[in-house]
Amino acid sequence: MLIKPMVRNNIFLNAHPEGCARETERQIAYVEARRADYARLAGPRAVLVVGCSTGYGLATRAAAAFGFRVPTVGLSFERAPTATKTGSPGWYANRAFDAAAARSGLASRTIDADAYSQGAKQAAIAAAAELGLRFDLVVYSLASPVRPDPATGELHRSVIKPIGKSYRGATVDVFSGALSKAEIQGATEAEAEATVKVMGGEDWELWIEALRAAGALAEGALTVAYSYVGPSLSWPIYRDGTIGRAKAHLEATAARLSASAPDGLRAYVSINKALVTRSSAVIPIIPLYVSTLFKVMKERGVHEDCVAQMDRLMRARLYAGGPPALDAEGRIRLDELEMDAKVQSEVEARMSRIGPYNLAQLADVEGFRGDFLRVHGFEVPGVDYAAEIPPDWDPAGA
Ligand SMILES: NC(=O)c1ccc[n+]([C@@H]2O[C@H](COP(=O)([O-])OP(=O)(O)OC[C@H]3O[C@@H](n4cnc5c(N)ncnc54)[C@H](O)[C@@H]3O)[C@@H](O)[C@H]2O)c1
Repeated sequence: MLIKPMVRNNIFLNAHPEGCARETERQIAYVEARRADYARLAGPRAVLVVGCSTGYGLATRAAAAFGFRVPTVGLSFERAPTATKTGSPGWYANRAFDAAAARSGLASRTIDADAYSQGAKQAAIAAAAELGLRFDLVVYSLASPVRPDPATGELHRSVIKPIGKSYRGATVDVFSGALSKAEIQGATEAEAEATVKVMGGEDWELWIEALRAAGALAEGALTVAYSYVGPSLSWPIYRDGTIGRAKAHLEATAARLSASAPDGLRAYVSINKALVTRSSAVIPIIPLYVSTLFKVMKERGVHEDCVAQMDRLMRARLYAGGPPALDAEGRIRLDELEMDAKVQSEVEARMSRIGPYNLAQLADVEGFRGDFLRVHGFEVPGVDYAAEIPPDWDPAGA
């Protein structure tokens, strides 16, 4: 069948199988082009990526596996296709990743399971045993709306809201280009705490404990989880909001994991740049900021995508030799180009005068939309979108 983007309320209902596969291969090719630089570094020997199928997790896995040429185990929660309905983008990306790894002689296992469950942790441990691995890099890159509580079974739901009071700010519909004011009601204390349960560090810690208890964690291993800081204009909705509280918990978890490690484990939070991934487009206000940021960063020649960021995380931070440089709060910073004072003052100045008539000059809504489409396999260069393709087309068999 012909597969065209189906989008409702800025959420994609489908994905293009071949586009998702080609986009995964593009990221792998980006890393492979830098192989010589990786070969000079002492990298990890066995890598686990929790949340491996899209966004920062997929880029991390591509950089680690194809840069350092090491085995990877990836875990994610994706929807498989049927004969009539496409799967989620990460389903195709995982299959494309495993196929590329097999072609390159790299061991890879991809597990489809709910990362919050005990079963998922046991499946990753079983994969490590099967491959004869002990992980010395564990990356936690989950972005999830829900988590069943491991103790009570209660379903915690994360929300992206300011805490207490409501927040009103400008936003843009990336498909119509329409500017509007969006108001988001403040979260209740219960919503904020539920968000910490889902997106905070509790499950990350459970992963580390489970791997350690099973002997699947190497001595002196590294573990990294991802976060975002962004400019103060986004703080009411991000840093000071429900998700920010969860990220503060994640950061505190990193400090605790490192402090109490019997085996020399070092845990870090890496603050990454704002990018368009499946989840970033659903955060209100953020699309206008990100579109303006992209325009400014592209004009200055400092724009990076997911794989460029994760390539830098590997080569310039985690494995550059010696412990990674940290900020005053003990975090790795990969967002220094976004947070550069000149970039930020230009973004702020533009956002204060943006209107329907100058939107295209001041912001890169087109670029945001293009990235958002590509994340779902659409508008990927080299793909023939006029050709019929079955929804259950399998990158591994292509
Ligand atoms: N997107 C950004 O701009 C940005 C910036 C800085 C930091 N981050 C952080 O990076 C991390 C990853 O975000 P992303 O933007 O790459 O998101 P994403 O939606 O592209 O990826 C999320 C991953 O988590 C997996 N996942 C979700 N629920 C799961 C579950 N229950 N079990 C197993 N796997 C599950 C998905 O399958 C996917 O692999 C998040 O912690 C996010 O806060 C994102």
